[in-house]
Amino acid sequence: MTTSPTILRLASRLDEVGFSDIVKIRNRIMELRSQGATVHQFEGGEPFMTTPEPIKQAMKSALDENKTRYAPSSGIPELRKVIAEKLRTKNRIPAQDSDVIVLNGGMQGLFGAFQSTVNPGDEVLLFSPYWTPIKDLVAHCQAKFVLVPTDEAREFGFEQTLSRYSTERTKVIYYNTPQNPSGVVFTRDEARSVAQFAQDRDLVVIADEAYEDLIYDGEHFSIASLDGMYERTITSFTLSKSYSMTGWRLGYAVAPEPWITGLKKTTLYSSNGVSTPTQWAGLAAMQLDDSILESNVAEYRRRRDVLWAGLNELGLTCEKPAGAFYAFPDVTRINGDSREAAEILLNRAKVSAVPGIVFGTHGEGHLRFSFSTPMETIEAGLDSLRRNL
Ligand SMILES: Cc1ncc(COP(=O)(O)O)c(C=O)c1O
Repeated sequence: MTTSPTILRLASRLDEVGFSDIVKIRNRIMELRSQGATVHQFEGGEPFMTTPEPIKQAMKSALDENKTRYAPSSGIPELRKVIAEKLRTKNRIPAQDSDVIVLNGGMQGLFGAFQSTVNPGDEVLLFSPYWTPIKDLVAHCQAKFVLVPTDEAREFGFEQTLSRYSTERTKVIYYNTPQNPSGVVFTRDEARSVAQFAQDRDLVVIADEAYEDLIYDGEHFSIASLDGMYERTITSFTLSKSYSMTGWRLGYAVAPEPWITGLKKTTLYSSNGVSTPTQWAGLAAMQLDDSILESNVAEYRRRRDVLWAGLNELGLTCEKPAGAFYAFPDVTRINGDSREAAEILLNRAKVSAVPGIVFGTHGEGHLRFSFSTPMETIEAGLDSLRRNL
């Protein structure tokens, strides 16, 4: 029997869903390393610190106490309650305990958020440059992403700029603050303008606050806290960056009905929830003293200042990142093609960074450098750039 080529084919909803370019860069680094080179790595996207001890201890205790059975797929009530309290007090989001769902990292929350709001053919507005996986999450909905240059919005006004890029098919605005890759932190007034636009056009906002605790200048402000916004916003959070827990895959999202039902369905039929011991560890994380977050910020700020000053001295100009842990300098003096520029840095200076084009057309001409790395790496990397560029 012959099998039709149309049968042995992935479902078309995956056609436009891609893979991360960062994997390709990692492969190049491994190749250089296998040839004996020391590579100064700035391409990463995770905290360099280890997970705090009390979190690890809580995981060990959960295992010893046999807290290893199925939990409710939305999360253990103890953790949901602590998260809801945090959302009400710290983020000023008017959340009920039942509006919270515990998830496998920010990624699962964002996946569920797009799946719950976007129909095939809809359009999603993304401030650009943007965190790359968002275009794939939109593609998985068989929808279209439309890039809204962040610089343009900041210069000419958010409402005016958003209206320039929206059409009748626009359904959702993806609102990420602090931003990956640019380190931009949207102000309270900017949040108000986006909220006004969303309300005037009856749009949903998917707010991504993965870096809420990494702010160096300004303040973190949750758009869902504004009047009239809670009902139209799904906000995604993660413990990955705040508590150095990237590998634990733990996050949460908050939204009222109907969105929370969407998040529950997408979770139930994918992972069916987060591993139970991991959730007990998450509870310990959420109960840690805020001083841990503050000392992390101080560590990151020192690194940001050194990297930012060093890059600018080299003529790789960039704005001082106000949040997250990335600097996003203009590298056109090396090469206007950011993939070429990244290759030049890697070959000449053994410095690895992510080409800006990976974050969309508005990222072209830039490279993303993470400053979540030991101070020695920043110093050695800058030194190598000074000597070899
Ligand atoms: C902007 C942004 N949102 C969400 C995430 C999701 O992180 P995780 O799935 O590890 O929680 C990341 C991770 O890099 C990110 O940069």
